[in-house]
Amino acid sequence: MFDLSPQFIDHLSGQTAFAPLRVIDENPSISVVGLGYVGAVSTACLSGLGYNVIGVDIDADKVDCIVDGKSPIHEQDLDRLLREGVDNGLVAATTNLVQAVVDTDVTFVSVGTPTGPDGGCDHSYIEAAARAIGEGFKHKNVFHVIVMRCSIPPGVTMNDMAPIIEETSGKVAGLDFLVCALIRNSYAKA
Ligand SMILES: NC(=O)c1ccc[n+]([C@@H]2O[C@H](COP(=O)([O-])OP(=O)(O)OC[C@H]3O[C@@H](n4cnc5c(N)ncnc54)[C@H](O)[C@@H]3O)[C@@H](O)[C@H]2O)c1
Repeated sequence: MFDLSPQFIDHLSGQTAFAPLRVIDENPSISVVGLGYVGAVSTACLSGLGYNVIGVDIDADKVDCIVDGKSPIHEQDLDRLLREGVDNGLVAATTNLVQAVVDTDVTFVSVGTPTGPDGGCDHSYIEAAARAIGEGFKHKNVFHVIVMRCSIPPGVTMNDMAPIIEETSGKVAGLDFLVCALIRNSYAKA
């Protein structure tokens, strides 16, 4: 699997640097943080594609559901896909995000981003996840890719989440780990 190059990330963040594309494991294992609508479906679909997936949530009931091969949400075919993933040994779940980061190569972030009291986007779940991800990085020296799946205002990924991970882990974005975002066409920056 190829990750996005630091040049591209730098293009997004408006900085300049140079580094070649890196290659990570051909069949990377994936942690999915947040097992709500986005995360539960991602976990099922990624396992359906043959990837090893560890689902992570602070809600132990959702984790128990996934471990039992049941969907924590209503979605057609999701029970079946999760059941197959668990039976095939491709799907696991935990509340321990630090350990899940240590045990995987790629982390999808799909925690909730509710509306805050001021009407803006509440980033607190993203920030908590970023701190745990950074803690995980302290325990590993292998390149890791983080994929932001949340709907967030432009800039939050690179200006908010990435610095928290750097500060917590002591590692450098673009060198030791990569942060990218699945962005909608209307978003100019991640
Ligand atoms: N639901 C959709 O159709 C949809 C579509 C596009 C984008 N999104 C975006 O995707 C993101 C997730 O949406 P959702 O609908 O799946 O949310 P959700 O509220 O259904 O699920 C979020 C999950 O994250 C968990 N969580 C919160 N903090 C955590 C942490 N620190 N570590 C681990 N788990 C944590 C919560 O317990 C919850 O289970 C949001 O930003 C949302 O705007 C959602």
